[in-house]
Amino acid sequence: MNYEIHEICCIGAGYVGGPTMAIIADKCPNIKVNVVDINTNRINAWNSNDLSKLPIFEPGLDEIVKRTRSRNLFFSSDMESAIKNADMIFISVNTPTKTKGIGAGQASDLKYVEACARQVALHSLNHTIVVEKSTLPVRTAEVIKNILESEQIWQKENIEKKTFDVLSNPEFLAEGSAINDLENPDRVLIGGQNDNAIEALSKIYRNWVPDHKILRTNIWSSELAKLTANAFLAQRISSINSIAALCEATGADVREVARAIGTDSRIGSRFLDSGPGFGGSCFKKDILNLVYLSRHFGLPEVANFWESVVSLNTWHQHRISKLVIMKLFGTISEKKISILGFAFKANTNDTRESAAIQICKDLIEEGAELIIHDPKVSPDQIAIDLGLAPLPDKNISSNKNLKSNGGWRFTKDKYSSFIGSDACLILTEWASYSDIDWIKASKIMRKPAWIFDARSIADKKKICDANLLFWRLGDGS
Ligand code: NAD
Ligand code: UGA
Repeated sequence: MNYEIHEICCIGAGYVGGPTMAIIADKCPNIKVNVVDINTNRINAWNSNDLSKLPIFEPGLDEIVKRTRSRNLFFSSDMESAIKNADMIFISVNTPTKTKGIGAGQASDLKYVEACARQVALHSLNHTIVVEKSTLPVRTAEVIKNILESEQIWQKENIEKKTFDVLSNPEFLAEGSAINDLENPDRVLIGGQNDNAIEALSKIYRNWVPDHKILRTNIWSSELAKLTANAFLAQRISSINSIAALCEATGADVREVARAIGTDSRIGSRFLDSGPGFGGSCFKKDILNLVYLSRHFGLPEVANFWESVVSLNTWHQHRISKLVIMKLFGTISEKKISILGFAFKANTNDTRESAAIQICKDLIEEGAELIIHDPKVSPDQIAIDLGLAPLPDKNISSNKNLKSNGGWRFTKDKYSSFIGSDACLILTEWASYSDIDWIKASKIMRKPAWIFDARSIADKKKICDANLLFWRLGDGS
């Protein structure tokens, strides 16, 4: 059986598939990498001559795509040829939470993964190594293997020619720092049963990752380790956000508490920034998946423990909206609020599960008019996330009722968001929000005006000196 890898196919050209394959192509010029997706718009965007139009904004990605695309990195919708020619196939499709049926609201919806497995079974030739790159519930490899092998029974003429290995190789990159995370990973995790297949994948990574960072485990440990890593990270954020609320009540300051505990080497200093609540496509979905699995395996106490990490996060987001309303004399109806940042974190255009979505919905529900600014998120995306079109252009709107019903507008200029606003709420830690000229902002805001900093990014003294009222998350001092 041949374990030499000359050609790779990746199914799924998203936040993981795109950057991961760009790095493999960059580091392994002798391997041809074909990235395929059913979303033709996405593929067209990956092939765009204008690199600012790539479907994903990730610092450093455009340079890598520029030097590898059409050399050994190709984006296409031709799944059949890409699968036929591949010695190794990465499945990197989305695994959202099920919205209906058994396990709705918690279990992963594996329909996209299953569709991939069926396509691979149909079109692959000879021996193929199938790599789970998507985050999956424990024991999914068994399902994939089952589908790959069962499909062959229907294709009797090929049955002798096709064989498969299934590996788990979860991805740990974080958005916004994906290129650095991929180039210098803390570890690469490979779970599998066949040493030759594991070695074939390890050999690819060894082009740039030292061997001691490549961890080999059994396949179930690898699948579970990915869910566990995300659960632990999210748990730290809920932990520090819970302490932030206590700091506000007691006169302590969460930044000082975080510094004090973070210097304990057993705790460590990273992932202790109190914020508006964790967002992103994965933390919530992966914890809920863990909750579902724990219940499924008869461990309700374990399920309840992890579920509380998500409930705390939801509570925390509503707590911030309520606080804004309270500080603005208990009503925000017809008040203008400037929202700085809509992405779930800085350096990404991704808004999935962003805390800004829930907080903005809460404020609109109370009748506020939001003026939203984000350097990378488009107004179209905001409209989708809020389930609400923007208010009509002010100049052409004469309908006063629109205001009291709440709504939002988008602005490209952060300073224009301050005109006549009663408050500003910072929700994403974009670097450009750390050097706002607060005197300039203060001059155009309606007094008394509040600055609510949910990211601890603004300069407290400059804000207070500018005759603005200031609230900062976790600052009880
Ligand atoms: P994404 O939604 O950005 O991309 C998934 C892509 O798969 C989409 O473009 C979709 O059109 C495509 N797709 C779905 N079904 C397909 C099919 N049958 N054939 C071809 N293409 C298909 O998702 P993502 O953020 O890249 O996440 C992918 C997986 O990686 C998820 O399991 C996620 O949990 C995991 N993950 C994500 C991140 C992250 O930072 N986003 C990090 C680590 C792991
Ligand atoms: C996270 C993990 O960090 C990755 O290892 C993992 O691969 C990925 O999920 C995944 O599986 O999708 P990501 O969601 O891109 O990556 O971003 P993070 O940096 O982890 O931030 C997640 C959320 O937590 C953001 O909303 C961020 O603002 C928030 N956060 C993070 C805090 O509020 N405080 C912190 O100290 C750190």
